Parts: sequence; structure tokens; C-alpha cells
Amino acid sequence: MRRSLVVGNWKMNGSRSANRELLKQLLSAESSGSDVAVCPPAIYLSEVAEQLGGSSIGWGVQNLSEADSGAYTGEISAAMVADLGCKFAIVGHSERRTLYAETDSLVASKALQASAAGVVPIVCVGETFEQRNAEQTLQVVGRQLRALLEHEQFGELGEWVVAYEPVWAIGTGLTATPAQAQAVHAFIRGELAAVSQSLADKVRILYGGSVKAANAVELFAETDIDGGLVGGASLDGSEFIAICRAAG
Ligand code: PGA
Repeated sequence: MRRSLVVGNWKMNGSRSANRELLKQLLSAESSGSDVAVCPPAIYLSEVAEQLGGSSIGWGVQNLSEADSGAYTGEISAAMVADLGCKFAIVGHSERRTLYAETDSLVASKALQASAAGVVPIVCVGETFEQRNAEQTLQVVGRQLRALLEHEQFGELGEWVVAYEPVWAIGTGLTATPAQAQAVHAFIRGELAAVSQSLADKVRILYGGSVKAANAVELFAETDIDGGLVGGASLDGSEFIAICRAAG
């Protein structure tokens, strides 16, 4: 039985005072029965870690470097991420893939880097609007996933999470219907099962793309949807708490 997981991706939003208020609200809510984590901008991690330390809410990063250390101006290493007590690292978010030209193989390297440092990678996959219309969804998602599954170091990967995020649903208010999302989640589970059934049984597959309190219950009711990766709605304390409850 997989425990559900809800992760808030704050993206490039927040301030020290706004973060404190938001976290205060999350900490005051009763446990939702699901695993919960937030991924703030990295510059706020120390403070977020301090505020959340000792609670059941985890924290993570939105991105990390594929390199170990050294002359990589502006980058953050997996060891640093682990040093800050991060449980999760989002890798391959579509905004990184599109705006920063991250390739499938770079994303796989980042996932392995996180894992080697003891941080659980959340590997994002998903198709664009044009790809869905051209009926290429499974082909695209399969390709993104296989870059990791076929990586020579894949066997060294510890716990990891997949997030299916259709690009056309991110920040647009358009959500995949539960049936549309479930179809892709089942496909992902099948690809994992082709590698190993125990892997398929254990990897949590999150849905992301305009998840809100109003649509969370029906999305999370689907067999292969194990929780959500939440952007916009994770910045609103009561919305995010309601989404966590829907998953719990
Ligand atoms: P959204 O973002 O919930 O605002 O659509 C999700 C994401 O980008 O992870």
C-alpha cells in the first residue's frame, strides 16, 4: 500500500514573512494522513527547515545541480540539499525543461545525483498541448521516463517519485480529467512494471497541473494517482491543507 504524498512547489514566490505565515498555517492544521512537503525557493531553505524541524512536514528543492561541487556559479549541489535536511528534490519540472533547456538525460543525472545524496528525486514528466493533440502523450512520457529507467546507474537509485504534469495543465486552470490523468498514470505504472513489479508497486506517482481543493478528491480517487505536486494552490494555506486532506 503506497502512502499518499502532497508536495507544494512554491516556484519563484514568497518572502521571509509570507513564508513564515504560510508555514504557521500549515503547522496549525491537524495531520492530514498523507505525507506532506513544501519546496520553497532554495534561498529560504534554512529558515523553512528551522520552522518545520520536528514537524511531520518535509521540505525540498525545486532543482539541483548534476555536478558534485566546484566551479558551477549559481548552482546548488545534492550534498548541500542533503545538508539542509531536504527530503525531496523536484527534477525535470517542465519549466526547467522549457525555459532552461534541460534534456531527458540531464534530468536523469540530476535524479541520480539527488538519490546518491539520500534525497528522494521527484521526476517530472508530461506532454505539451500540441503533443497531446497529436496523440503523442504516451510516447513523450515514455521517452522522458526511459531516460531514467535505462540509465546505466539506474540500479543505484533508491526511493524516487514520478510526477505526471501535463504541461498544458500547469498554471493554466485547465486540469486533466481524472480519467485522462489515470490513463497516463497507469501507463507509467506499466513502464515501471516492465522493469520490476516491486518497483511499480512502490513508486508513488503524483499528478500535477492546476490541482485545487475543488478537484483533488476526484483526482486522488484514481487507482494510480498517489497524491499531487501542487503549484499555485500551495501558496494558499487553506487550499493546500484541503488538498492534503483530500489525499489523506
Ligand atoms: P500548478 O503548478 O498547480 O500551478 O498548475 C503545478 C506545478 O508546476 O508543479
